[in-house]
Amino acid sequence: MGAARVAVVTSATGLDEDTDLPLLLEALRSAGLSAEPAAWDTDPRRGWAGYDLAVIRSTWDYVGRIDEFLAWADAAARVTRLWNPAPLVRWNSDKGYLLDLAGRGVPVVPTRCIVPGDTYVEEDFEGTHGVVVKPSVSAGARDTARYEPGRGADAERHARMLLGQGRTALVQPYLPLVEEGERALVFFAGTFSHAIRKQALLTEPGEMDNDRAAHPGAALHMPTEAELRTARAALAAVPAPGEPLFARVDLVLDGSREPVLMELELIEPNLFLGLDPRGPERLALAVAAAAREA
Ligand SMILES: Nc1ncnc2c1ncn2[C@@H]1O[C@H](COP(=O)(O)OP(=O)(O)O)[C@@H](O)[C@H]1O
Ligand SMILES: [Mg+2]
Repeated sequence: MGAARVAVVTSATGLDEDTDLPLLLEALRSAGLSAEPAAWDTDPRRGWAGYDLAVIRSTWDYVGRIDEFLAWADAAARVTRLWNPAPLVRWNSDKGYLLDLAGRGVPVVPTRCIVPGDTYVEEDFEGTHGVVVKPSVSAGARDTARYEPGRGADAERHARMLLGQGRTALVQPYLPLVEEGERALVFFAGTFSHAIRKQALLTEPGEMDNDRAAHPGAALHMPTEAELRTARAALAAVPAPGEPLFARVDLVLDGSREPVLMELELIEPNLFLGLDPRGPERLALAVAAAAREA
């Protein structure tokens, strides 16, 4: 049997800008796999069926094309082994999963989901430290803003805009300790690899800025026991048998300094492979193990 063939799934933007991509390709080749990048929305050289495994990584342009992307994931999963699995990708593509996880006892940022047709009042958009309004399908803080106390009418207008576009709006209290840094814990096949800390994004209240740097000031971070516990609880509550091949668990501290889940990223997270010298190898070994499973 020759080397297992792995597609690292990206996008036009990812091919240019994904700093994890060259590191992962090199580590996969060092681990004895045949690896090549392939944009999800183009037919790769071998066709998806020509790969033993396809690992979704920097498919960053899917947010505005979610139906097309999920259909691609289903189709690819019929002809190759897709990681993470297509049903998990679908579940994770809508931040409504936060409510599922909260229902399973995971500490998450308190989240109210408003779907088109729901009724709401201005008070739903007030909180001690203000609120954050965001679409349920998003990435890179797109169409996301924070509103200070007393600005509930502005926050409500934001939600109404999203609902008017047929989107679901999420309303959360603004957690000010995000200003001490959001944490991102990276796991491969259920095993913790490394973590980073990054600066807060919503520094300007009332502003929607779709060109923000996604991970300002990202630096290696040593997670606390409490952070690891919350991250593991989130992973344990994922509605799938077995462990995701890769996961990034984003946490912030709440008012009692307890880490709570902001986001569980199972589709296309930046894994900050350049910040931990062993990171690329750990992911490559997890991919190699997945490739060996019949
Ligand atoms: N409830 C919140 N409290 C404080 N900051 C928030 C809150 N929600 C979002 N943010 C800020 O906005 C950023 C983007 O929000 P997030 O929920 O991670 O969505 P995405 O990364 O998918 O756009 C976060 O990294 C954080 O800096
Ligand atoms: Mg995020």
